[in-house]
Amino acid sequence: MSNNSEGKIKVEAGKRYSWCNCGKSEKYPLCDGTHRELDGIEPVRTWFHEDLEVFFSRENGKLQLKVEKIEK
Ligand code: FES
Repeated sequence: MSNNSEGKIKVEAGKRYSWCNCGKSEKYPLCDGTHRELDGIEPVRTWFHEDLEVFFSRENGKLQLKVEKIEK
């Protein structure tokens, strides 16, 4: 596993996020376009209705996301 294989990021309401589905992105867990060198793998695109924290990890080669409200 690389150093950035788990952690958390804040996401903003209404903004599109492309999540890396290939595990090769330098910006993991977000897609950086590296998947274009691979056949048939696309990022997962999501939008959120509010600002949130997203905890991410990679288990068995698959991205795992856990979404939580930001404590104010
Ligand atoms: S770089 Fe991994 S899906 Fe785009």
